[in-house]
Order: sequence, then structure tokens, then C-alpha cells
Amino acid sequence: MEVSGRHIVITGAAGGIGRALAGRLAEERPRHLVLADRDIDGARAVAGPLGAQAVELDAGEERSVVSLIEQATAEGGPIDIFISNAGVPGAMGGPEAEDAVWDEAWRVNVMSHVWASRALLPQMLDRGEGYLINTASAAGLLTQVSSLVYSVTKHAAVALAEWMSIEYSERGVRISCICPQGVRTPMLELAMEDAAGAAALTAGGLIEPEDVADAVLDGIREERMLILPHENVAGFMALKGADPERWLKGMRRIVRGAREGTPG
Ligand SMILES: NC(=O)c1ccc[n+]([C@@H]2O[C@H](COP(=O)([O-])OP(=O)(O)OC[C@H]3O[C@@H](n4cnc5c(N)ncnc54)[C@H](O)[C@@H]3O)[C@@H](O)[C@H]2O)c1
Repeated sequence: MEVSGRHIVITGAAGGIGRALAGRLAEERPRHLVLADRDIDGARAVAGPLGAQAVELDAGEERSVVSLIEQATAEGGPIDIFISNAGVPGAMGGPEAEDAVWDEAWRVNVMSHVWASRALLPQMLDRGEGYLINTASAAGLLTQVSSLVYSVTKHAAVALAEWMSIEYSERGVRISCICPQGVRTPMLELAMEDAAGAAALTAGGLIEPEDVADAVLDGIREERMLILPHENVAGFMALKGADPERWLKGMRRIVRGAREGTPG
């Protein structure tokens, strides 16, 4: 799908990948661009120079996601492309993370995509056209060694996109799932605090949010389900699929090496 002339909504657009996406897609002259974030001042600061509409959003609440869609539709008409990009890192470590942390991650990293799809699919299926995109992560295809909460919720976001792609793509609604590895944004800083997390992330090479935005624009044009801004992620997936035990051994070696201070 070409993005010029389209009505595009991006969540989590006050910073990081969302802000870069907003800047890149604005260059393509959409009909209407809406930038939503819980940081409304940040969203306004990004939206102003782009001539975009800024909307305050709590992506962890269905009411708020529905209200975003209503406000965007009131100003710009039917939404063509909805990029559900807001995400939270959860907590470092394993199952000991508190239920409140799990709950927020499920709501923001998974349910926000469900709620947007629930609100938008009926009208998109009626029109026989529309595009739903979520930002998952390579952590949803491989893993994120520093955080169980993040890995589990991002796997769910990938599963959601796969299911929807199979079900709806032949009825006119395109689905894409953005799966970057390490991207230099504020979110990355938390994962980099953990030696194993940093080793695994830097193994794939760190890229800039603008690189992700370029890959997303290409992915939308080509209507690709999986958008992989890091070249080596497809190779890691192939290795995992071909020999999961070998892949797990390799991941254990990276974690052990990073924690013991020896190369993996
Ligand atoms: N940075 C990376 O290395 C990386 C890698 C893979 C995937 N991702 C994913 O990319 C997406 C964007 O992350 P980023 O790296 O730009 O992080 P970021 O922290 O820089 O930006 C996230 C944005 O989402 C907003 N947000 C968070 N919770 C929200 C909520 N409940 N309601 C509304 N807005 C909310 C924040 O205010 C912020 O503007 C996330 O889904 C993240 O999981 C990031």
C-alpha cells in the first residue's frame, strides 16, 4: 500500500521508534496523521511541526484506544493505517516480576493491539481495505534474555499478527508486525543494564529509530507481514527453526559468557 493520501494513526509517537515513524511517514504526504501517546506534551511537540493531530492515549485501557479512534475519525475520516506501536519494557528478570508489571505489559504490549483491531476491523472489512500494524519485537520471534515479561508478551503480539494475517489478508485488511532487535531509544537503556541483555542485543547490531522507520515504509509498500529491520534476525529464526536445541545452547552460552565476563 502507498501511504500518500492515507489517514495514518501511530501510538507511542512521542519518542523513539514512534517519533521516527511519524517523521518518515509525514514525508509521504498522508491525508491525515494522528500521533498518540500517554506523554501528550511529547506527542504535541512531535505533531506540531508535522501538522499532525496529537491525542492523549493510555494504550493499556480499551476505552482510551476506542476514544483515540473516534477522535481521529472525527477529524480525518476513516482510518487507513493504524500503527499500534506503544510498548513497555516490563521488568528485568523472570517470573518473580509482580502481577501489576505482568498486567501492564499484557495490556500495553498485547491487548492494545486486540482493542484497536476489535474497533477497526468491522469498518475495514466492510470497505474491503485497511492496514493494521503492531510493533512487536525480535524478542517475540527469538527471545529477550533479560526479561521474561517482555519476551512472553512480545511473542503474543507476533502470534496475534500471524493469526490476523491468515484470517483477514485475503479480505482486504493487510497486517504487518514490526520486529526489530536493538534500537537506540530510551527503552533500550533498561535492557542494556543487564550484561546478558546487552550482549544478546549488541550481537545483532544496534540501529537507529530512523532505520526502523525506513524499513517500515518499505514493508508497508510491499505489504510484508514480518518487517525485520535487522538483517540477521531472519537467519537467527532459521537457525532456531532448524535446530532449536542448538539455538538454546547458543543463547545459554551468550548469557553465561556475559555474566562471567568471558566471550560467549
Ligand atoms: N528499542 C528497541 O530496542 C526495541 C526493539 C524491539 C521492539 N521495540 C518496540 O518498539 C516500540 C516502541 O519502543 P521504543 O523503543 O521507541 O521505546 P520508547 O520508550 O522510546 O517509546 C515508547 C513510547 O510509548 C509510549 N507509551 C508507553 N506506554 C504507553 C501507554 N500505556 N499509552 C500510550 N503510550 C505509551 C511512551 O510514552 C513512549 O513515547 C515498543 O513496542 C517496543 O517494545 C523496541
